[in-house]
Amino acid sequence: MIIRQFEPDDFQDVLLIEMEAFSEHNPFLYINFYETNRDYFLVAQAGGSVVGYVVGYQLTEMEGRIFSIAVNSEYKNCGIGTQLLYAIFDVLYENAFQYVSLEVRASNKGAQKLYRRLGFVPCWIEEGYYSDGEDGIIMKMRLHQPFLLNALKIKEEVVPIRHEPV
Ligand SMILES: CC(C)(COP(=O)(O)OP(=O)(O)OC[C@H]1O[C@@H](n2cnc3c(N)ncnc32)[C@H](O)[C@@H]1OP(=O)(O)O)[C@@H](O)C(=O)NCCC(=O)NCCS
Repeated sequence: MIIRQFEPDDFQDVLLIEMEAFSEHNPFLYINFYETNRDYFLVAQAGGSVVGYVVGYQLTEMEGRIFSIAVNSEYKNCGIGTQLLYAIFDVLYENAFQYVSLEVRASNKGAQKLYRRLGFVPCWIEEGYYSDGEDGIIMKMRLHQPFLLNALKIKEEVVPIRHEPV
């Protein structure tokens, strides 16, 4: 498994993962992110396929914001989400950001658990943030050098939970 920058040929794979993972979609945003924030648009590639992505942007001079992260459902719980997050922490840190933040649906307990495990803390609630009225939780973390060390330690191969579509 490798983590690398998004390339235009990855667009379809990324959109398929995004369509499966989320109920709200705007494909043009991803093109826009590629054009304006390509340093912060990373994909995980396993066995020749893109199996996950993370995309972020500059929120303020000191803070990067993770816009979206998703992993192909066949490859969840293999550590790919963690590796994508470490990789984007690394890029943000190299670009002199001191903080990274994200927003997560109040009901998305699995993702919140993952973010807490990595050091994010819930900061405030954006009421009715999502188009269906659900609240969003803003989580934040200070970036520091050990993430670079962690990012270097993530070379081990990941094995998908299952290969066949359900
Ligand atoms: C959230 C998401 C990106 C996480 O991706 P992931 O690849 O499953 O994440 P990881 O595998 O790194 O971590 C998930 C869990 O698997 C566990 N795990 C990590 N490596 C593992 C391994 N080798 N074997 C088994 N489990 C492992 C982790 O401990 C983690 O558990 P915990 O955080 O609940 O304690 C993914 O679930 C997803 O795409 N969800 C839908 C979209 C979404 O909700 N995005 C977030 C919006 S804010």
